[in-house]
Amino acid sequence: MDGQTKLLEYCKAVLDNNSVRGGWTKPAPNLYPHQWLWDSCFIAIGLRHHDIKRAQKEVKNLFRGQWKNGMIPNIIYGADEHYGDDIWKSKVSKDAPRNLKTSGITQPPMLAEAIVKIGELLNQKDRKKWYKDCFESLVRYHEWLYRERDPRNDGIVTLVHPWESGLDNSPVWMSEMHQNQLPLWIKTFKFMHLHNIFNVFRRNTKYLPAYERIDVIDALGLYSAARRLRRKQYNTTKILRHTQLCIEDLAFNSILIRANTHLEDIAKEINQEIPGWLRSRIKKTPHSLELLWDESTQQYSSRNYSTFELIKEPTIMTFLPLYAGTISASRAKKLVELLKSRAWSTKFLVPTAPKNSKFFSPTRYWQGPVWINTNWLIADGLKRYGYVNEANEVIKNSVTLVNDHGSYEYFSPLDGRPSGAHPFSWTAALTIDFLKSDT
Ligand code: GLC
Repeated sequence: MDGQTKLLEYCKAVLDNNSVRGGWTKPAPNLYPHQWLWDSCFIAIGLRHHDIKRAQKEVKNLFRGQWKNGMIPNIIYGADEHYGDDIWKSKVSKDAPRNLKTSGITQPPMLAEAIVKIGELLNQKDRKKWYKDCFESLVRYHEWLYRERDPRNDGIVTLVHPWESGLDNSPVWMSEMHQNQLPLWIKTFKFMHLHNIFNVFRRNTKYLPAYERIDVIDALGLYSAARRLRRKQYNTTKILRHTQLCIEDLAFNSILIRANTHLEDIAKEINQEIPGWLRSRIKKTPHSLELLWDESTQQYSSRNYSTFELIKEPTIMTFLPLYAGTISASRAKKLVELLKSRAWSTKFLVPTAPKNSKFFSPTRYWQGPVWINTNWLIADGLKRYGYVNEANEVIKNSVTLVNDHGSYEYFSPLDGRPSGAHPFSWTAALTIDFLKSDT
């Protein structure tokens, strides 16, 4: 067996082992035993090469959790595990499903991408059937995003919790949280150095060293923010009335732009109408994204929903407008130059924060380590703008990391040292996709 075949077999075995009766896949057996939204999308993108029916089930099982108002939650809890399900108590909302437990928030809208990637490998007849099966739920989800999360009507969606970004402790979110959103009791614990006792109760530090995970104060901040949302029954109007930690997240909105393009293509292929109000809102998003461009830093940023100020923390999000595919060639060129600049040049690409960020740490979660899903999004964007060599370098780096160390959650950009949950499903799935897709 040659090296590439061995790696493919290994990645398939990871997905098989993490699968729950062939219906959906745990991101990682110990740490993440439930179904996560964007994880399942990335997993389906890899699975389609190996077992397309299972990839379709992976996506369809996400619709089990869809709320009456159209939201697709970031977590659908598995029946056999109880980790984490108490904090949400999703049934405080009248919109939550009654027959299963879910979280009360969403995650980046990778769903349309997963549906289209599966569609690419089906013949025309099966693809149409597949698209018809998914269309209604997908439209309802996009309607929810714009109806509930775009209150200014400008096409930019706001997030109400860092976990919605998928980049939980990204410097963008943590800098905002540190500034004014930590409740007094957490500040007091920090001041009195009492916070470390919480590590004893954290599931993720039971399996992994604390320095690889979110800082304990930040983790307490995230829990406290989730409890605030629960108190407001996950009602967006109530949440936004007295906004706490709401951000117009650059990565999420870039992914949404791409998802909208896919949604339009799907509708066209099966002769379905997207409601007029949604179509006009969708049209606004690429224009509004340009308002997130900052001349002084020559890059795009996220924006604080209430102050309307740009959050100028450089992070991996900076490069995701390439994936959106609607920015101009000249701005894309600037982003590529930035990617090649000293601050971003690490032995392994692409770090989730640059070396000159005050948050940078090669092992701490979304504050420096290389993640394979963000590499996948960036490689896709680079190719879209014709930077094929640069894209191939990102892909080669990713495959090398997985080949040398295994399917870990993330890797040090300085020396490739693997960290986090293992064996981690989307790392395996996207490696399959890298190996199987033409570059
Ligand atoms: C972590 C990641 C998030 C992912 C989840 C399950 O919370 O930050 O992006 O979806 O784990 O893998």
